[in-house]
Amino acid sequence: MSAIPSNQKSDGTQSSFLYLPTACEIVAVSDLTPDEKLFRVRKNDGKALGHLPGQFVQVSLLGWGEAPISVASSPTRGTIFELGVRRAGSLTGELHRLGAGDTIGIRGPFGHSFDLSFLQGQDLLLISGGCGLAPLRSLIQYCEDRAEEFGAITILYGAKSPEYVLFQDEVASWEASERFACGVTVDRAPDGACYDGAVGLVTSLIPPLAFDAARTVAVIVGPPVMYRAVIGELKRKGLGSERIVVSLERHMQCGVGKCGHCTIEHLYCCKDGPVFRLDEIENLRGAL
Ligand SMILES: Cc1cc2nc3c(=O)[nH]c(=O)nc-3n(C[C@H](O)[C@H](O)[C@H](O)COP(=O)(O)OP(=O)(O)OC[C@H]3O[C@@H](n4cnc5c(N)ncnc54)[C@H](O)[C@@H]3O)c2cc1C
Ligand code: FES
Repeated sequence: MSAIPSNQKSDGTQSSFLYLPTACEIVAVSDLTPDEKLFRVRKNDGKALGHLPGQFVQVSLLGWGEAPISVASSPTRGTIFELGVRRAGSLTGELHRLGAGDTIGIRGPFGHSFDLSFLQGQDLLLISGGCGLAPLRSLIQYCEDRAEEFGAITILYGAKSPEYVLFQDEVASWEASERFACGVTVDRAPDGACYDGAVGLVTSLIPPLAFDAARTVAVIVGPPVMYRAVIGELKRKGLGSERIVVSLERHMQCGVGKCGHCTIEHLYCCKDGPVFRLDEIENLRGAL
């Protein structure tokens, strides 16, 4: 939905990493939750990745294959980029064994980013669930660094339990920041957990919000089960589909519109998405 096609970098030049992975060094690894780690990564040539918030890369490890992973950091934060990776299977499990100094392959950045020119000047509702905070964090950091380009910004985030809240220090800084209004909730807080925040689904944070539907854009990134419920609440508040942006996940292989693994009817999630405006996809079978 933005002006950046899948194989083009933000400076308008063609990406040379369309088919060939480029070697990148893991600079640091830290634990985010029991199942998710944050990888700080630098291209071996020292150049910036050239991504925009919402784009993804294909991460490869020799002998283990490739996986699409969203870039979790903003391009405004320098040449090192960050990937938040959940241990899901073979490649991501192997990735979790790596540490600083190890090498991974990167193709990309791919896909359409969040359409920044569409978001600029608008009030933003940035809503994520679970691992969806990783791609949204890239946009949140961008908004933090270019605060003057956006209106009021509200961040809503839901995790399954307190220990699964991603980027805990950063989330706390957003809660304390005057720039953001921030609501965080967990599905459940186990007995004895050191947690005094809200308990309930992320959808429960929407009804009390007051916002002007004519100048607000909502961006949603989360697990598939979250979309319909969140969209329902937003529509009840008067937000039209043309003012709701979603980022979708599909099984992917090539990442560049060649293999057909990621199709949603006539669209390729890798090349036409993963970011879509709701009115572009809501009537497509299986989109949500
Ligand atoms: C555009 C995009 C962005 C993504 N961003 C992130 C991210 O920032 N962080 C992150 O941790 N993960 C992200 N994912 C999901 C990630 O790509 C998968 O978890 C990964 O491919 C699993 O690879 P694997 O080899 O470890 O698992 P496999 O061994 O291939 O599979 C393990 C399990 O994961 C399932 N799985 C594999 N791929 C997907 C998928 N795309 N969607 C849902 N289930 C899948 C398989 O069906 C299987 O049940 C993203 C996916 C897409 C399409
Ligand atoms: S992943 Fe191959 S066409 Fe989208």
